[in-house]
Amino acid sequence: MSFARPLPYSRHAIDEDDIAAVAEVLRGDWLTTGPAVRDFETALARQCGAEHAICCTNGTAALHLACLALGLGPDRTVIVPSITFAATANAARLAGAEVIFADCDPDSGLMLVPHLEAALERVKRANKRASAVFPVDLAGQCADLETIAACARHEGLAIVEDSCHALGTRYQRHDYSWTAVGGCADSDITVFSFHPVKNIAAGEGGAALTRSPDLAQRLALFRNHGVNRDAARFTDKEAGFEGAQVNPWYYEMTALGLNYRLSDINCALAKSQLSKLERFAATRRRLATRYDARLAGYAPLLRPITRSAHCVPAWHLYSVLIDFDALGTARGELARRLEERGIRTQVHYIPVHRHPYYRDRYGEIALPGAEAYYRRTLSLPLFVGMGEDDVDYVVENLGELLGFGTARTARRQVP
Ligand SMILES: Cc1ncc(COP(=O)(O)O)c(C=O)c1O
Repeated sequence: MSFARPLPYSRHAIDEDDIAAVAEVLRGDWLTTGPAVRDFETALARQCGAEHAICCTNGTAALHLACLALGLGPDRTVIVPSITFAATANAARLAGAEVIFADCDPDSGLMLVPHLEAALERVKRANKRASAVFPVDLAGQCADLETIAACARHEGLAIVEDSCHALGTRYQRHDYSWTAVGGCADSDITVFSFHPVKNIAAGEGGAALTRSPDLAQRLALFRNHGVNRDAARFTDKEAGFEGAQVNPWYYEMTALGLNYRLSDINCALAKSQLSKLERFAATRRRLATRYDARLAGYAPLLRPITRSAHCVPAWHLYSVLIDFDALGTARGELARRLEERGIRTQVHYIPVHRHPYYRDRYGEIALPGAEAYYRRTLSLPLFVGMGEDDVDYVVENLGELLGFGTARTARRQVP
C-alpha cells in the first residue's frame, strides 16, 4: 500500500500496542525512574547480548555519558570519523576532550582501518596521544569492527561505537560467529538513539551498553547528577548510617553529573517498539533490496553505497551515490524537484570537520574520502510504513529527473 505524499526520508512506525503500552504507564504510579525503565534496559541488553544497558534522554547524552564514564575530558584526544552527525564529535568536546577527525571510505562513508591508522599518525605527529576512537555504524552498517578494535587496543585506545543508526544490525566476527551491534564484542561502550527517524522510536531516547560492571556503574552515576544511593559505597559512614541502620534520606554526590534520565513514558514506548525490531529491520532490508534492484540500471552514475562484507545491516538510511558532475545536475536542484513530487531526501552527512565550529578550532583539514562521499551522497526515503510501490515511485522520479528516462527503460549515455 502506498504511503501518503510527501514521503519523508525516514519516520517512526507506531501501532495501537505502542499506544496501549504508553497509556498503561500514564495510568500507573511511575512516570520516571520506575519499573518501565528497568524493563526496557533489561530487554535492550538481552536483545543485543550486552550485560548492561543504561538508557538516557537521547543518543547525544549517551555519547556524552560514555565520555564522562571513560574520563575523556581535558587533555584527552578522541578520534572521530568525519562522516557522522555532529553529535559524535560534540560529545567529546562537551566533555572537554579534543577531536581528531578520521577520513572515511568514499564509497561507504565508513571509517576503515587505514583511516584510523592515518588519524593515529596525525595524532603522533602533533605530539599527542589518542585516548579513544568512536567508530560510527553509518546508515546501519558497520566496518570490520574486530580489526578496528585490534588496532585501537594495540594503541591503548578505548572504543565507543556510535551505533545510533544500527540497532538490529549483526556482523560476523573472524571466528565466523555472529554478533549483534550493541553486544560490545568490539567496543567498551556502544550507544544507540531512539529518535523517531531511527530503527525504533522512543520519542526521544538513547542508551549506552557495556559489558563492564564498572563502566555501567559510572554511566548510571553520571546520568543521575553523580549521585550514589548505594549504602555499601557511602564514603561518609557517619552521615550515612545511624549505628548499623542506613539513614533513609541519605545519598552522596560523588561526581559532577547531569540529569539524563529517560522517563517511564519513553521507556514503555521503546520497549514496545523493541519487540518489533526484527520485523522493522526485515522490512527495511526488503525495501533496500527493492531499491537495489530497481536502481541497478542507473549504475555507475547512480548507485547504492558500497556494502560492508560480513554485515547484515538493519538499514537506518538508504543512501545512494550520484555522480552529479557527470550528470550535469546540482544536488540542491534535484532535491527541490523531488520535493515538488512529494519525495523528501536528506544528505548524511556534511563532514563534521567542515562545520564552522570545528574549522575555527582545528583549521582546514584535508580528508579526501569524506569529501568525495559528501559530494555524491543522497538519502532516499526508507521507513517501515513504505510500500514497494513507493520505492518504485522514488526510483522512477529520480530516473526521470536525472535524465535516465523511467526506471524500466533507463539507459542514459554518459556525455
Ligand atoms: C550517528 C549519530 N550519532 C549520534 C546521534 C545523536 O542522537 P540523538 O538525536 O538521539 O541525540 C545521531 C542522531 O541523529 C546520529 O545520527
